[in-house]
Amino acid sequence: MPRSTAPTPVPAVAAPAARVHDDLVLAPRDVRFDWARLPLHWVPDEPMATHILNVLHLLLPEGERWFVKAFKEALPLIRDEQLREEVLGFIGQEAIHAEAHQEVLDHLLAQGLDPRPYVRQVAWLFQRVLGEKPGLTPAQARENVIERVAFIAAIEHFTAFLGDWVLNSPGLDRAKADPTMLDLLRWHGAEEVEHRSVAFDLLVHLDPGYLRRVRGMVVSGPLLVHLWVRGVRFLLAADPTLDGRLRPSWREARLIARRGLLPDPVRSVRSGLRYLRRGYHPTQEGSSSQALGYLATSPAARAAAH
Ligand SMILES: [Fe+2]
Ligand SMILES: [Fe+2]
Repeated sequence: MPRSTAPTPVPAVAAPAARVHDDLVLAPRDVRFDWARLPLHWVPDEPMATHILNVLHLLLPEGERWFVKAFKEALPLIRDEQLREEVLGFIGQEAIHAEAHQEVLDHLLAQGLDPRPYVRQVAWLFQRVLGEKPGLTPAQARENVIERVAFIAAIEHFTAFLGDWVLNSPGLDRAKADPTMLDLLRWHGAEEVEHRSVAFDLLVHLDPGYLRRVRGMVVSGPLLVHLWVRGVRFLLAADPTLDGRLRPSWREARLIARRGLLPDPVRSVRSGLRYLRRGYHPTQEGSSSQALGYLATSPAARAAAH
């Protein structure tokens, strides 16, 4: 639930998800994945679905490093010890996510699909356009950090939405998607569901205003769609086995979603709109117990625990 430095009354009804959130202790899991046998089209015979999901690998390393940097800058502004611990746990988890997806990028390159031109654009966006600005006064610097936290809180709504989807996506198993990639996506998705409240609670702690929250989504939602569409076009053009034959379309994306290989685009947009509800809190979406259940059985997370 939203944080405040003032004592808050105990809610009349404590939902199970909220109870998990109250005890939130975020432990980074130092996972390892072996990509040596990953096929280029890791959803067999589904190059379009593979590459729509592969956009995650293009965006997340730079994006999550940017999260980590902004949250480190936000640490001195936090006046709540539990929230501070959660933010530190969040930083630890996101740093590992970024490196796990980076390894997939390296594997794509080794398979003849060079992701670097697109990744350079993403890096420019996060580091130059959305990064810290030199020469600001302390007040301006604080404002700049809170603005980035608002963007991150909105993006974290989508990472939790995607995490919840991938934990409940039997279509990928039916399509015989590569089990190591499925474990990466579900381990990451489960941690996104696990820590889905942290960025939002940090935002409310630093600025409880509704306008800032709306601005975060109004900027981040369309930007994510734009980056995703560009990323799919880029990957389909750069895939050495496709010779530029496949072109993405919303119709095709919906057909793939109907096969259970992607979240439905319309449902994704509706999810973004739910973030704008006045009474929204991330614990209303997804299931912490399901996420923790997956993390207890994930091959990579189990190996990291030993
Ligand atoms: Fe992440
Ligand atoms: Fe996250």
